[in-house]
Amino acid sequence: MVETKLKKAAVIGSGTMGHGIAQLLAMAGHEVFMIDINEEFLSKGVERIKWSLGKFVEKRRIRREDADAALARIKTTTSYEEGCRDIDIAIEAVPENMELKKTVFAKIDSIAPAHAILASNTSTLSITEMGNATNRPEKVAGMHFFNPPQLMALVEIIKGEKTSQETIDTLMELARKLGKTPVLVRKDVRGFIVNRVLGAVFNEAFWTYHRGEATKEGIDASLKYSGGFPMGWFELADFVGLDIVYEVGKILHAAYGERFKPCEEVIAPLVKEGKLGQKTGVGFYDWTKGRPRIPFNLLEEYDVKRSWAVAVNEAAWLIYEDAASPKDIDTGMKLGTYWPSGPCEYADRAGLDGVLERLKKLYAEYGMELYKPCPVLEEYVSKGWTGKKAGRGFYG
Ligand SMILES: NC(=O)c1ccc[n+]([C@@H]2O[C@H](COP(=O)([O-])OP(=O)(O)OC[C@H]3O[C@@H](n4cnc5c(N)ncnc54)[C@H](O)[C@@H]3O)[C@@H](O)[C@H]2O)c1
Repeated sequence: MVETKLKKAAVIGSGTMGHGIAQLLAMAGHEVFMIDINEEFLSKGVERIKWSLGKFVEKRRIRREDADAALARIKTTTSYEEGCRDIDIAIEAVPENMELKKTVFAKIDSIAPAHAILASNTSTLSITEMGNATNRPEKVAGMHFFNPPQLMALVEIIKGEKTSQETIDTLMELARKLGKTPVLVRKDVRGFIVNRVLGAVFNEAFWTYHRGEATKEGIDASLKYSGGFPMGWFELADFVGLDIVYEVGKILHAAYGERFKPCEEVIAPLVKEGKLGQKTGVGFYDWTKGRPRIPFNLLEEYDVKRSWAVAVNEAAWLIYEDAASPKDIDTGMKLGTYWPSGPCEYADRAGLDGVLERLKKLYAEYGMELYKPCPVLEEYVSKGWTGKKAGRGFYG
């Protein structure tokens, strides 16, 4: 169905995400126009695509002739008129700024054929607002890839207030065609699934560190060596970029209030000093000699169940708002961040009653909204839906 519907694509922005998305589309057989503001950025984007295709060939994931054919399907332009004239889909990947995104959406809308779908790769901004900048809000949706898009399996598909089901179905299908696993975010909530759950566990770690209850190395060692997470939250924050973590934190705080009260004291000074993590060589850790060494002997310094408790709570809030299903939340966290388990399956295994008790205790101790149990958790436990042992929890 999609093959006939979506043939020609435009990708707006040829940076970190844009070039990768253009490559994926081309590898799946689409003709792609990559659009940027100058030729220099475009040729850099093409160079990155060539490098990545070369790696796929080297690792025998695709044949050389298929890589060449994919590259030949990618054209570049600085002209929206040329790039969007006869497309079936545009995917926008310009910097994370609402005014810029609205201008870009209005521009594509004025050029692209009426049937074309316009998707945004935004990490946090409102899809509804972008849709309202066009005359086709029913054809505007979020299509949030993870970095690097060529390798990461997850795509969050986000429904704006006016997005049609047909648009969502088409994008879910497209994501599958690109070899990805899509999860559906049914409401245009800030942070979608992955960044929202991550925002909650980051805050729990930052506050714990700030209160002097554990060191950042101890928190990361516990998460890694006791919890089975690929990275602790401080290392992950450095990896993502502290400027991004800081900005997303502010957006979550504005959207959800005190539950996402950011720990300014821990992160703001580093951002101010330009210590943004891996990309600048230093953040919470020193990255100048490679990945930080997280000492194994600190693996019991932090109780990993605290991170799980706030992750489960945030998952419950997503369910409370009818924004996502337990399965999509779990898939999102496993494929978007390589968690060993999703928060809902964790809770079903560990027992929702225990998680609720932990949250109540933490809430009583610190009085922070971060720990205030979501009504969904209270309701499930009061119904006896405590997880696997009861035959019903988030699943069942
Ligand atoms: N980098 C990530 O890890 C990541 C992950 C998921 C989503 N995102 C989101 O993807 C989007 C792009 O992020 P990025 O990291 O690729 O940014 P980037 O800065 O690497 O690339 C943005 C590109 O857009 C171009 N651009 C700027 N204005 C433009 C315009 N008016 N028209 C066309 N092109 C324009 C820039 O020249 C640049 O090449 C953001 O919304 C970001 O939140 C980023």
